[in-house]
Amino acid sequence: MPIRSLIAGCGSYLPERSLSNVELAQAYGLDTSDEWIVERTGIHNRHIAAPDETASTLGANAARAALARAGMRADEIDLIVVATATPDSAFPSTAVRIQALLGSTRGFGFDISAACTGFVYALNVADNFIRSGQVKTALVIGAEVFSRIVDWTDRGTCVLFGDGAGAVVLRAGEGEGTAADRGILSTHLHADGSFGDLLFVDGGAGSNGTAGKLRMTGNAVFRHAVSKLADVVDEALAANGLGHSDVRWLVPHQANRRIIDAMGRKLKLPPERVVVTVDRHANTSAASIPLALAEAAGDGRIQPGDLVVMEAIGGGLTWGATLARF
Ligand code: UT7
Repeated sequence: MPIRSLIAGCGSYLPERSLSNVELAQAYGLDTSDEWIVERTGIHNRHIAAPDETASTLGANAARAALARAGMRADEIDLIVVATATPDSAFPSTAVRIQALLGSTRGFGFDISAACTGFVYALNVADNFIRSGQVKTALVIGAEVFSRIVDWTDRGTCVLFGDGAGAVVLRAGEGEGTAADRGILSTHLHADGSFGDLLFVDGGAGSNGTAGKLRMTGNAVFRHAVSKLADVVDEALAANGLGHSDVRWLVPHQANRRIIDAMGRKLKLPPERVVVTVDRHANTSAASIPLALAEAAGDGRIQPGDLVVMEAIGGGLTWGATLARF
């Protein structure tokens, strides 16, 4: 019987401080308005990490919540994969920092760099470790502190992002061929580095020694998002012999309400079947999907047996989609 990665628990963590559009504009003296931000993005608020919070502390809090949901202990986890574009430092990885914060010395861990698509990439990596039999359990975490890398003088980008973390516990199980047919069905990843200058950080943890800031040509990324996400979702459904009508929930990357709505319409899903957090969290990059997943699984919207589509696009460009049955 082939092994599947079953989703055993989801958890999330948001920094305490929530900043509204009006507060943000005032705090940074920006020539913007609540009206513009809401109309163009759907964002009303975002959370901002406290000075002593980092990707690893946010990620560890999300991991604790996911482990509690799964009814598991940290020392039962074989693998930790963290998707982040804002690691605490170049090394040690955020994953092993989280392992230490969780008080575990078991297994191994590493970070994935795929910007806003990072969680989908990380899920695929962990799924392959489980399917191959190398590990039996994995924590997949998206943790971001974008408030540290946005340029607070650039109204075109700083209003879009927020901080937070989400985590999922995966457990090896027999899904395929069973009556329930549960777990991660497949993940489809893409990248096209020729679009690297559309969304990037101009320095930072890399080798050039400067503290970088995020730069984005938003309208060009928007156009790529609408077409590439539609294509990769169709690719994922076709690979599993499924159609739009089989999808119960869309849990998309939360960059812009207009992109999310376009994907919901494309899948012919009623709005209540699309999980939206961008209004309260803004874009938390690799953390946005697990944050949304934890919310919808935690409040009982996503039920066992439900087919969930996750999709994301981000810097690289990178993009991808995962199909999972809870
Ligand atoms: O998570 C990774 C993937 N990222 C995304 O998917 C983001 C995709 N892009 C977007 O979500 C949208 O392109 C944005 C929300 C970033 C921008 O919306 P847009 O409708 O594409 O606006 P635009 O960039 O074409 O700018 C339109 C106007 C410009 O003014 P002019 O040149 O027309 O006079 C901007 O200067 O809006 C202006 N503008 C603002 N005005 C008030 C840009 N930012 C702001 C602002 N407040 N914060």
